[in-house]
Amino acid sequence: MRISNRFITIEGIDGCGKSTQAEMLSDWLSLRFGKNKVVKTYEPGGSGNEIRNILLNSSMSERSELLLFLADRMEHVQNIILPALCENKWVICERYIDSTIVYQSFGRGIPACEIERLFAWCEFPVPQLTIYLDVPVDVAVSRVDSRGNKDRIESVGIEFIRKIYSAYKQLSIDRKRIVRVDASLDIHKVADSVRNVLEERFELKS
Ligand code: TMP
Repeated sequence: MRISNRFITIEGIDGCGKSTQAEMLSDWLSLRFGKNKVVKTYEPGGSGNEIRNILLNSSMSERSELLLFLADRMEHVQNIILPALCENKWVICERYIDSTIVYQSFGRGIPACEIERLFAWCEFPVPQLTIYLDVPVDVAVSRVDSRGNKDRIESVGIEFIRKIYSAYKQLSIDRKRIVRVDASLDIHKVADSVRNVLEERFELKS
């Protein structure tokens, strides 16, 4: 089966502006390629199952948490991501495999090699490009605070968030697929930077 390489993920700490940038990017791609050629989705919960609710609200062991994120992803990949890629659509996904490496390995302490083995077993497709939205911890935390009603993972505390922040930084240095974008600027400037990355990576400049 031939699948397209138009698979883009957006990553960063909670409060980095992922949803806004995913929206702006998919609007821009829709204008260029047509609305029916773009799928905007997210994890956990993008396939509409109940796992997101359990993950964000129930306490559980680190391994259960990992396995639930993977089960959620399996459904998402099978039902949303792969069908869209098979139809040569653009897929813009908020959070994906790098969230699991960062949160469950660097954050919770499960060895990354074990998680990578599970990714391989699940045969998750690897994105062509990952945009890492880099925003300082204090800015992101105040955005999350202003929304109120934090979920279980957002409530873990500042030290955990700092750990996650350093992990994203490290991953964006180690992996060529991941491009860091300064997300502390005005949202339109950030959106311009994201588009520039896409134009370059996918040779979209006309
Ligand atoms: P969201 O609020 O950005 O949708 O994400 C929900 C939380 O789930 C967020 O704190 C990050 C966390 N998460 C993981 O810990 N591991 C994962 O694999 C994913 C996809 C999200």
